[in-house]
Amino acid sequence: MGLLAVASGKGSPGVTTTALVLAAVWPRRALVAECDPAGGDLVYRVAAEHGGPLDPNLGMLSLAADARRGLSPDQVWPHVQRMGGGLDVLTGIATAEQSAGLTGSWSTLGRAFEALPGADVVADCGRLGADPAPADLMRHAAMVLLVARSTPEQIAQARDRAVALSQRLHGGSPLGLPPIGVLLITDPRRAVRMTDQTNEILSASGANAVVVGALADDPAGAEQLSGRRSGRADKSLLVRSARQVALDLQARLGLTGVG
Ligand SMILES: Nc1ncnc2c1ncn2[C@@H]1O[C@H](COP(=O)(O)OP(=O)(O)O)[C@@H](O)[C@H]1O
Ligand SMILES: [Mg+2]
Repeated sequence: MGLLAVASGKGSPGVTTTALVLAAVWPRRALVAECDPAGGDLVYRVAAEHGGPLDPNLGMLSLAADARRGLSPDQVWPHVQRMGGGLDVLTGIATAEQSAGLTGSWSTLGRAFEALPGADVVADCGRLGADPAPADLMRHAAMVLLVARSTPEQIAQARDRAVALSQRLHGGSPLGLPPIGVLLITDPRRAVRMTDQTNEILSASGANAVVVGALADDPAGAEQLSGRRSGRADKSLLVRSARQVALDLQARLGLTGVG
């Protein structure tokens, strides 16, 4: 139904966790697609719904093999697995060496995700290098979300990446599609101040991007979500902040209605 691409400018601010938590609280059915060219994490992090491990051979690579002969959106579902907790996932490549298996398929995959019947797709695109491999997928997104911690370094990197990504995706077009949004991970008490400061920095740089929300900096909530810590994740600060972000994004993108 719609594609949301999540990525970071540099480092490991929490892209995978953000993709998971947004998909988990998304008001419609959502599927996580691991599109990180450096390799996915979820096969190692989370169990399948049946209690055993996720099958590493079923996911983006098997889908990309099908995509070479053209791909209709409903051909995506046979490659999807269900994680414990009920979220659907397309597992990513295991290592960066396998990324050749996806080369040339990003655009086809993006088009299929955008038109997937029955669910929105949240794509974990990992860290963007100077020449982001999944840029052709991002062109099909309703929005590209850049995740950054609210440190001066990470905000500056998100700004620089937003400028580069805007040149690459928008090419100077005044329409600026897909929109680029910055998602801050911050102490909720500082969220308003950090949002204002970051927007000033983005606007001064001419980056075609604005802050679209703030997720709580909540290490315990993040670990619960990835199964590394026990306890109920659904009451955590992280999940509560994600609910607000998901609602705001839906309204901003016009992705309303239950799917
Ligand atoms: N909102 C958050 N608050 C606190 N810690 C977080 C948050 N999101 C992720 N983390 C932690 O940051 C580290 C990196 O997270 P991960 O999602 O794997 O990042 P990435 O995909 O960017 O490499 C993990 O230890 C994770 O638990
Ligand atoms: Mg990751």
